[in-house]
Amino acid sequence: MIYKIIIFILIVLNIFLIFILNKKKIKNYFHKPKIKKIDITEAHEIFKLKEISKNLKGPKNDVIIKSFSISDSNNIVGMTSDKEAWIIASLSKISKNIFEFGTCSGKTTFIMALNANKDAKITSITLDPKDVIELSKKEQDNKVSFRNIKNESIYNKFLFSGESVEEKIKVIFQNSLNFDHKNFLGKMDLIFIDGGHTYSVVKNDSEKSFEMLNSNGIILWHDYVPGKRSAQDVVKYIHEISTEKKLYSIRGTSLVYYKNE
Ligand SMILES: C[S@@+](CC[C@H](N)C(=O)[O-])C[C@H]1O[C@@H](n2cnc3c(N)ncnc32)[C@H](O)[C@@H]1O
Repeated sequence: MIYKIIIFILIVLNIFLIFILNKKKIKNYFHKPKIKKIDITEAHEIFKLKEISKNLKGPKNDVIIKSFSISDSNNIVGMTSDKEAWIIASLSKISKNIFEFGTCSGKTTFIMALNANKDAKITSITLDPKDVIELSKKEQDNKVSFRNIKNESIYNKFLFSGESVEEKIKVIFQNSLNFDHKNFLGKMDLIFIDGGHTYSVVKNDSEKSFEMLNSNGIILWHDYVPGKRSAQDVVKYIHEISTEKKLYSIRGTSLVYYKNE
């Protein structure tokens, strides 16, 4: 009898171990992305590689950018990865009117401004830390994302504050749910949606973005990560609109890409 119990315990332990080791694979199986994944070189011609030699291809000038990284010891919250920032920066080089939902520390805003032309205009909307107290969670919003909005709405000075490129940037301190976008209709070349990650805010920011986009403008969403709790509402909204809009998930990033054509 004792042997049977030991064997039973060993089997249970093995199953547990297999589960722990394959947790990510199992999670990915149940949370499959529903939109097509592409390499960035397929998304826009500026990312197409130039041939250097028979076995070496490299970036074209269009995607050589000015950038910086944030060290791990500088505990800045809510940022894009360096690869994501590179993609946004490259697209900023060919964009005159840029809009960002969610400034946070201003890492991405700064990088956009460093790369956009002199006459480019970047507008970024964000919550004033002092207004966070007035926020209310809507019924369809997920709790973790709502909590994150509060945790990320802590800056009223930004990484670009006092820098010369600040002249290209205008920050609007306002809840995007109350933002009147009528002066921006059909004007934007590039929109980066990275504000509140609750369903009500993502839907609001995206619907306004589609109306603000010009005829060949581009929208990028941040944090499309199926299976990640705090990204649940972003994923849900993206999947909902993917039946009508041509959306692509960019490999190696959490970006979703859309281009008006
Ligand atoms: C993830 S952070 C943005 C990170 C930033 N885009 C970057 O790449 O460094 C989210 C930002 O969205 C802002 N935000 C959240 N909900 C918002 C809302 N309803 N209206 C305006 N801004 C909002 C927060 O205040 C915070 O600054």
